[in-house]
Amino acid sequence: MDPQEKLLENLLDALKFSPENIPLRLQIGQLCLDLNKTEEAIQHFQDTLALSPEDKGIKFFLAVAYYQHGKDDPAFVIVEELLDDENPSPAVNLLHAKLLLDDKQIAAARKEYEYAISIDSDLRDPELANEINQAENPTQAITEDGRIRLSMNEEDYTDLKDDISVERPSIDFEDVGGMESVKEEIRLKIIHPLNHADLYKQYGKSIGGGILMYGPPGCGKTHLARATAGEIKASFISVGINDVLDMWIGSSERNLHSLFESARDHSPAVLFFDEVDALGASRKDMKRAAGRPLINQFLAELDGIESSNEGVLILAATNTPWNMDSAFRRPGRFDRIIFVPPPDGLARVEILQILLREKPKNPLDLAAVAKNTRQFSGADLRAVVDIAVEAKISESLKSGKLAPLETKDLLKAVKQVKPSTREWFNSAKNYALYSNQGGLYDDIVKYLKL
Ligand SMILES: Nc1ncnc2c1ncn2[C@@H]1O[C@H](COP(=O)(O)OP(=O)(O)OP(=O)(O)O)[C@@H](O)[C@H]1O
Ligand SMILES: [Mg+2]
Repeated sequence: MDPQEKLLENLLDALKFSPENIPLRLQIGQLCLDLNKTEEAIQHFQDTLALSPEDKGIKFFLAVAYYQHGKDDPAFVIVEELLDDENPSPAVNLLHAKLLLDDKQIAAARKEYEYAISIDSDLRDPELANEINQAENPTQAITEDGRIRLSMNEEDYTDLKDDISVERPSIDFEDVGGMESVKEEIRLKIIHPLNHADLYKQYGKSIGGGILMYGPPGCGKTHLARATAGEIKASFISVGINDVLDMWIGSSERNLHSLFESARDHSPAVLFFDEVDALGASRKDMKRAAGRPLINQFLAELDGIESSNEGVLILAATNTPWNMDSAFRRPGRFDRIIFVPPPDGLARVEILQILLREKPKNPLDLAAVAKNTRQFSGADLRAVVDIAVEAKISESLKSGKLAPLETKDLLKAVKQVKPSTREWFNSAKNYALYSNQGGLYDDIVKYLKL
């Protein structure tokens, strides 16, 4: 049984015991949407709305469900109501754009789309952009292989290679607090093989394959990837999968090849794929998903079929590993999947030390700060330090004297920051409990002591 189907079944069972659980109901509704069970989704969101009639989030999802079911009229009604509110989420504008496009109001659709992505660039949707383009300019050429060409000519296509930014990070493992076991995995799996290739060869131990890090946002995945490159003085190429999908619609495979080629040209290099779940994701309406050809291209590149990946270290990160195609997890590909939890007390002290380096400060009781920041991510800790520093700057401006940071400044700032990892665990928990094939999420189970 499909893991998502299984999850749905289990969540529905759970709902029998707590029919008033709105977050659970919302998750069920969203899962129905993901599985394209739009009629069930509509029913679920309606039932949920009955429990909490003023909830805008539920209304929005109900509109999405109607839209996905092809019932644009009720979707329009809800969206227009939501847009009348004070601060509508740009996701509402995005849905509005889709509805306007269906209604052949193309210019208005473009305006809404551009507005939505100007507020939140994560909402970029190349497929929708392409549909709008095509509707505006129906004579656009379609190439023989079925690719849709935007207004550019083939000559205008400059190889993406020129646009890829290759970084030389100045940070290394010293700049990463905690994460000891992840660092160790990276050393064993990719740094040692790079530095001692001969030894590995003599033992007939194959090298290659990458590490996939997953976990709640802000806990240092991207930071550690960058530091890995710094640690071995390698080049660093960071790629948001969504960028690959965006750049040249229909040419994603070529883009991807260029990326790997660039890394090979700059070896040793760390090639880092962020939001890698966008690649393996099953086709969903509100999220983009790459097609099968792109996935196959990615797998071929990972396997180094056409060109050798020697000297290319591959790291990837995601918040939603459950969306990834299992083909990625085979040996030689992402065969190490590592959970990156929020920092524990000791790691929080280390991260604070790193963040406070070279700042004017009195001796600080960081253990006390760590004690008050359970469930905080590294990014949350950074917010705490930022707030405390800002307060100190304005104090210094007023008094004309440099005011060094003190423990109480940090403790005060802690009160203004909410840990941002909880929400992630709410959904991760369900996957760990109900869809934990092959013990994939045992680390989450252990972490949450489920
Ligand atoms: N272990 C750490 N040591 C030092 N700084 C950290 C650590 N973890 C997080 N930070 C700080 O928090 C910021 C955000 O972390 P980062 O972007 O690496 O998180 P992430 O896990 O990639 O999150 P997302 O899943 O949202 O991409 C970093 O730029 C860094 O300043
Ligand atoms: Mg990141």
